[in-house]
Amino acid sequence: MSAERAPEGAASDATETASGAVPKHIAIIMDGNGRWAARKGLPRVAGHREGAEAVRRTLKAAVKAGVECLTLYAFSSENWRRSEEEVTDLKGLMRFYLERELDEIAKEGVRLDFIGDPSAFGPELWKKLQAAREQTKDNDRLRLVVALNYGSRAEIAGAARRLAEEVQAGTRNLQDIDEASLDLALQSRGLPELDLLIRTSGEIRLSNFLLWQAAYAELLFVDTLWPDFGEEEFNAAIADFQGRQRRFGGR
Ligand code: IPE
Ligand code: IPE
Ligand code: MG
Repeated sequence: MSAERAPEGAASDATETASGAVPKHIAIIMDGNGRWAARKGLPRVAGHREGAEAVRRTLKAAVKAGVECLTLYAFSSENWRRSEEEVTDLKGLMRFYLERELDEIAKEGVRLDFIGDPSAFGPELWKKLQAAREQTKDNDRLRLVVALNYGSRAEIAGAARRLAEEVQAGTRNLQDIDEASLDLALQSRGLPELDLLIRTSGEIRLSNFLLWQAAYAELLFVDTLWPDFGEEEFNAAIADFQGRQRRFGGR
């Protein structure tokens, strides 16, 4: 995310009123599927299924709003702690969603990408995900990044390891390890700076999501459960962002 980082060049004009500007990069912790299902007396999988519909609505809203990049937290590296049954259901839904939505996603000009380690979901799904990435790689209307088996600490540790290996191999000087080079070693390299991070379902924590990238993001926690999220909530989040004053440490 280094290319458009604000702080250094922003010294003389550190205060930025977001007003009017659509956030370039929005990330969402899509939480609350289980509680949505429980409230309706349904099994958890029904909440995840409805959550997939919310993804569909939100993606359309993001394209319409002119957002450049949307990063969705779909499965954390800690979610393996769930029952085998739930993990299997989630994998099945990912495959189903991909098969059903890929052509539509491609047609809308969406470029699909991933962070995390989705290869852990097995070769069949991993192959489909890679093919989807390949099929959409030239699209430039919106970049959809799905975090699959993602953990921010693992991402940062991996970046540190990569840089250390380069120093060891003699291809990088120790002095060259700084914020910019670490940023470029993360899986999020090349994405615009994160502007807005939303979490649904009323939980107020980051759960190991984009810890580095969120350094100066605006945070928004809403009570809506993810399956109830859609265009209206998405546009309300953008409006909330537009009312904030970003200072980046300035006055
Ligand atoms: C988010 O909903 C989906 C995933 C983490 C995969 P949850 O399944 O966490 O729903 P709650 O938090 O139990 O309501
Ligand atoms: C975070 O939600 C992960 C995703 C939304 C994919 P969790 O429901 O797993 O987070 P915790 O356990 O409440 O922190
Ligand atoms: Mg949850």
